[in-house]
Amino acid sequence: MTETLTSDSTESTPGSLLYELRGVTRTYAKGSVAVNALRGVDLTIKRGEMVVLEGPSGSGKTTLLQLLGALDTPTSGEIKFAGRSLENESDQVLTEIRSKEIGFVFQQFNLIPTLSADDNVAIAMIPREPSREKRAARAEELLTQVGLGHRLGHLPSRLSGGEQQRVAIARALANRPEVIIADEPTGNLDSQNAKEFMTLLLDLHDRSGVSIIIATHDEDVALSAGRRIRMRDGSIVSDSQN
Ligand SMILES: Nc1ncnc2c1ncn2[C@@H]1O[C@H](COP(=O)(O)OP(=O)(O)OP(=O)(O)O)[C@@H](O)[C@H]1O
Ligand SMILES: [Mg+2]
Repeated sequence: MTETLTSDSTESTPGSLLYELRGVTRTYAKGSVAVNALRGVDLTIKRGEMVVLEGPSGSGKTTLLQLLGALDTPTSGEIKFAGRSLENESDQVLTEIRSKEIGFVFQQFNLIPTLSADDNVAIAMIPREPSREKRAARAEELLTQVGLGHRLGHLPSRLSGGEQQRVAIARALANRPEVIIADEPTGNLDSQNAKEFMTLLLDLHDRSGVSIIIATHDEDVALSAGRRIRMRDGSIVSDSQN
């Protein structure tokens, strides 16, 4: 089981630096107005950390997660991921990093509605695993690990919100990523499902050592992480261990 979960990236020594951000800003042009969504963020995150980003609406959490996920680029400043400066990488390399080294979990689950749970997980492995059989076998194994071994062939519409988010976690783990980035993953779940989701995530974190970065408004989620980073108006205002 551990073997299934563990990241196989090279140099993935726990405790070594995963992210290094220096003076990162992100300014959006909104018509003729400039919105300073991030105003000079300095941040380091080590491998294996579980980090929660908190802060009021509009404080820059999603903006920061998009930069950490190589979905967006900073207006200024530097982001190093696994020792590589992202600004020097080609679009092709950034796409590779996103598909193989980062697992995403979203508030809206973002499953493909026409694909069954197992196909939603298997399809994520196409860039990394050429064998269809191996993709299917790993999808089944991952879904079993998140407690959905009995729901493999179900379409997302036949799954509850909590179940859909567990499929999303299995999909995020499919390529043995370095890090899971989750933007308000419990935002669409009731409190019971949110609790179960966090228990599952913490268990996966403990067993696999994957780094996890979560933006949340949920105090219970924030309390369960090792490290809490609070943002306000595009800046980090506190950074503490629970
Ligand atoms: N694509 C965009 N174009 C223009 N402005 C944007 C864009 N995305 C975000 N912003 C602005 O950047 C600021 C930070 O937004 P961001 O979405 O990062 O906040 P957040 O902390 O994730 O908020 P929430 O808790 O509501 O999700 C806000 O002022 C927002 O309006
Ligand atoms: Mg947000």
